[in-house]
Amino acid sequence: MSNSTTHAVAFIKKASLTNIDDVLKPIEEARGLPNEHYTSNEVYEEEKQQLIFNNWAGLDVGNSIPNAGDAKPVDFFGMPLLIIRDRDGSIGVFQNTCRHRGMILVKEPTKIRGVISCPYHGWCYGTKGDLRATPHVGGVGENTHESIKNEDLGLFAIRSHVWKDIIFVNVSGDAPEFEEYAGDLLERWKEFDQPIYHGGDTSSFTMELKCNWKLAVENYSESYHLPFIHPDLNSYSRIEDHYNIDEAEGYSGQGTTVYQRLKSDDGKTLPEFSDLSSKWDEGAEYVTLFPNVILGIHRDHFFTMLLQPLGPQVTVEYTHLYYPSDPKDMPENDTIFERNAGLWKQVFSEDIQVVEGMQESRHGQFFDGGKFSPAHDGPTHRFHTWVAKTLKASREQEVAVAGV
Ligand code: FES
Ligand SMILES: [Fe+2]
Repeated sequence: MSNSTTHAVAFIKKASLTNIDDVLKPIEEARGLPNEHYTSNEVYEEEKQQLIFNNWAGLDVGNSIPNAGDAKPVDFFGMPLLIIRDRDGSIGVFQNTCRHRGMILVKEPTKIRGVISCPYHGWCYGTKGDLRATPHVGGVGENTHESIKNEDLGLFAIRSHVWKDIIFVNVSGDAPEFEEYAGDLLERWKEFDQPIYHGGDTSSFTMELKCNWKLAVENYSESYHLPFIHPDLNSYSRIEDHYNIDEAEGYSGQGTTVYQRLKSDDGKTLPEFSDLSSKWDEGAEYVTLFPNVILGIHRDHFFTMLLQPLGPQVTVEYTHLYYPSDPKDMPENDTIFERNAGLWKQVFSEDIQVVEGMQESRHGQFFDGGKFSPAHDGPTHRFHTWVAKTLKASREQEVAVAGV
């Protein structure tokens, strides 16, 4: 086989990696994504590029690097990234790789004093990623060489954007502007375009799940499971008090009409966001901004859960809760912030058994993607449609490029 034929065969193979046409049918006839989308390394790699790196995905929160000079390495879908809070307070994201021989620059969260110095041969970078010094590069005692042009050898910058303290990254660098990408959701929640404050140590928690990251999105998309999996929650926020959110392309989820504000033991409530419309008196909404950013919004708090896989079958959930006023100014309310985080932790823990159970089932060869409930699974179908459409477009493009 000639090289070009081998190339074309490889593209055809990729183009038919899985059959996703049934996913794109109307919900009454559609099937969910095939098993390989949960179990196969090859499909995981394809989704990583097409769904995560080519779009705006959630990396971390600004609260993880609160002070100027803070730097934190993050394994992002297997890619080593480095988040840095600069002296002016802005956040930069870089590939965590020295431009000399490719050593990992920063292994642990750290505070940069001056410059970041590579542990291997001492090349130094500023907090904006610029290469500052190259000791002995031209021979012992010679710190320059005519072939080493510092201005061309800064750290690889990753396109980033911060919204609601969430650090989004677009690794490919060519997604639409964030405001356009997330425009429908920004419009839906524009009333909440107000300052938020992290609840502190007790308002962050991490869970590791033995499942593909998409199952966490899918489970979060529907309230159908409330009576079975969350009986406590369902006693005050019943399945019939929820509505589907599935009308937009880039996000989906569900909302409730009976949200009750947080109360302390002595009946005090927390401050609220200002000037909200009556929809939010007892309304709250829970959506995923595709691909991996889970969000919850209420009149008195906000949370995000970022999904970061360690492979096709393991996912870590990083949850952070925020409030309309700074909890540091309200130490008398510590217990209520803690209680709120505890309530959500309880709910998310209850979900682990089902996402892991669904993962296990996807090793059974007869599972065919399943059958959606048109009444309840619209938001899940919306997510699957987004996944399938995105993959189909890239597969078709590759076939066209290969000329077959
Ligand atoms: S690899 Fe970083 S200085 Fe050599
Ligand atoms: Fe749940």
